[in-house]
Amino acid sequence: HKPPILAPSILAADYTQLGAEIEQCNDAGIQWIHCDIMDGHFVPNISYGPTVVQAARNSTEAFLDVHLMIENPDQYIQAFVDAGADQITVHQEACKHLHRTIQAIHSHGLSAGVAVNPATSLTAIEPILGDVELVLVMSVNPGFGGQSFIPNTHERLQKVRQMRQKSGYNFLIEVDGGVKPNNIRDIAHSGADILVAGSAVFKAPDIPQRIEQLQKEAQI
Ligand code: DX5
Ligand code: ZN
Repeated sequence: HKPPILAPSILAADYTQLGAEIEQCNDAGIQWIHCDIMDGHFVPNISYGPTVVQAARNSTEAFLDVHLMIENPDQYIQAFVDAGADQITVHQEACKHLHRTIQAIHSHGLSAGVAVNPATSLTAIEPILGDVELVLVMSVNPGFGGQSFIPNTHERLQKVRQMRQKSGYNFLIEVDGGVKPNNIRDIAHSGADILVAGSAVFKAPDIPQRIEQLQKEAQI
């Protein structure tokens, strides 16, 4: 099986140095950058919008993995396509017509992901597994960086991996929230292909060194 990929979340970056910090990720061989979009309605926090995604697009060749933690994501697909997203992930909990939303993302030629919060049953995404390129299993309650990894996420990751094996689909499994040097290995073993890390990367005293440490721990 392919080694897992580390996807730094720029939510935790120093916005006075965003370009320089993304450059450090580039130099460390990062292939994915995770962009957390929060609207203050779906989650109790506001982060940033297409403008910052465009800035990230101008700073890296990495795969831009846009995580929409917003109500009515359909209304903003075009804006994030225009900003240079490579993938758009929507929350199952935010979509009245999830199949149509995934189709809309695909109609722009982008990869589509579906995210589930810690208390959302995995059966809620069973019907859409054949239509998505990625399943995002939240390991914290969305809205903030720097929170602790919710332990039963291990079981949930293993369950999603089973669902993939049983169905024969080949979506990627992403985990997001509370990923640290001391738990990343276990998380990778539970089945995550894409490991999102925000504060673990950008709050570290030495970003490149921390990226290397995380990749080594996860055997990337
Ligand atoms: C939380 C976001 C996560 C967050 C991860 O709502 O979806 O991507 O930025 O941050 P850390 O890695 O600091 O938990
Ligand atoms: Zn995220």
